[in-house]
Amino acid sequence: MTKNSAEISALVEAKAFPMGTPALPKADPCAVVILGALGDLTRRKLMPALFHLTCVGCTSGQFTVLGVGREELTHEDFRLRMRAGVAESKEMGDFSDDQWQQFSQRLYYVAGELQDRQTYNRIAAGLQRMEEQDGASANHLFYLATPPSLAPTILAELGASGLAKEKWREKGQEKVWSRIVVEKPFGQDLASARALNESIASVFDENQVYRIDHYLGKDTVQNILVFRFGNSLFEPVWNRNYVDYVEITAAEPIGVGSRAGYYEQSGALRDMVANHLLQLLALTAMEPPVAMDADSVREEKTQVWRSIPKMTPEVVAQRTVRGQYGPGEINSERVLGYRDENRVATDSLTETFVAVEFRIENWRWGGVPFYVRTGKRLARQLTEIAVHFKRTPQALFARTPDDRIEPNVIALRIQPDEGITITFGAKRPGTAMHTGTVHMNFCYRTAFGVRSPSAYETLLLDVMRGDATLFTRRDGVEAQWRLITPIEEAWAKQPPSDFPNYEAGSEGPAAADELLARNGHSWRRIADSSSGCEES
Ligand code: BG6
Repeated sequence: MTKNSAEISALVEAKAFPMGTPALPKADPCAVVILGALGDLTRRKLMPALFHLTCVGCTSGQFTVLGVGREELTHEDFRLRMRAGVAESKEMGDFSDDQWQQFSQRLYYVAGELQDRQTYNRIAAGLQRMEEQDGASANHLFYLATPPSLAPTILAELGASGLAKEKWREKGQEKVWSRIVVEKPFGQDLASARALNESIASVFDENQVYRIDHYLGKDTVQNILVFRFGNSLFEPVWNRNYVDYVEITAAEPIGVGSRAGYYEQSGALRDMVANHLLQLLALTAMEPPVAMDADSVREEKTQVWRSIPKMTPEVVAQRTVRGQYGPGEINSERVLGYRDENRVATDSLTETFVAVEFRIENWRWGGVPFYVRTGKRLARQLTEIAVHFKRTPQALFARTPDDRIEPNVIALRIQPDEGITITFGAKRPGTAMHTGTVHMNFCYRTAFGVRSPSAYETLLLDVMRGDATLFTRRDGVEAQWRLITPIEEAWAKQPPSDFPNYEAGSEGPAAADELLARNGHSWRRIADSSSGCEES
């Protein structure tokens, strides 16, 4: 924000919503089978989400969880382990022991190796027992919280054991469903993504499959569609006639932490751009869907990815930038460079930063660059979409002293200061015709005054209700890799010679600034990205 800018606060009071809090949706009765139940994802994300959904009454009385892990544990041991994870979860708010006691009675455990057929027999027997003795539901949701290399085996065994099959109850009309949730990465490139999709399709129908991208579970990400298609004010200008360029940033101050084993193989392009950032781009650029249902929304997103031409190696050289962090300072603390991190090769060429200029070749967006950047160890946490509008056709106030009205910007702030900022020009108070840049702020936190559910709560509830709108369809995954794989291939042939090329705590490599400067554009500064929500 500019230093002298005035601020117009458009904070909406929760009481301004006369309809009150809408009723919570209810999940179908089901048993959630978590494969990889002793891992980090289950402890940090899945179990807190399931616990909270149960506390607020979204799950049914027949809801149960069957954890599957390698260690020999009793049901009670498993419950104790899960309790520790949930109690320390930051997303939970206050932890209630009473509620935990009730919830934990619904947790069960089966031990076994996931490569071993016997494990699946034990899972099937466990589910049967839970159904007969404890009234658990016969609907099954399998959650693959496992390393990607295990997916083909697990899929084959779920198929062979009959657990993937959906059935109709003998007399009634009721369908007993079986669904599967798959976590990213959905492959490493187009070929491996196709192979994974094939193994999924050999066991499950596409409508049983939920490929999760946790960004789509964030309220602020879903709000992109509401902002665009729930208001008549913005959509008429949301096109090449008015928009100059679009910036999509996902900056993180954290380093690679304990995930170097995975990250060394992945890098920022596969880790963030191939999924989360392409999703943000699609939601920003897509045409209005004919309905808010899974196929209509996913169809339009896929059309966006398909409208982006595959990059040739020459285009990759012009429109992409890679970076890797060296040592530096973040929040007044010295931090290591990437190559000094645990389990990272001292000559690693893995990129921890990437910037890409995408071009969407369709009627709405022809000629408008979509710049996407993401990186670890950047100045601060910031995920936002900034839509920059063209200058006014006539510089009516250009001759008045010190005036140059900045072009309008709409910034959709995904996190951490969730909200929207609209930037526009206004007359400064005084006898002279001076103008200044002002900001109109909508802050999620203060406007609605309620806690947003975690992304996993939203997405798990959707799977349990059979709503796949916020999940990636098979053709979508392949369309994403069709864009990413040529970049990876071109990069592999031209190893970077300047790594590390940005300091931890900075804005990223200088080359990322040059990428935009060539078109007369510039990134918003990550370090100065305060929204004003904090002060309100
Ligand atoms: C994950 C990536 O998918 O998303 C991580 O693997 C990244 O590297 C994380 O840190 C970011 O998610 P969020 O919700 O914190 O922005």
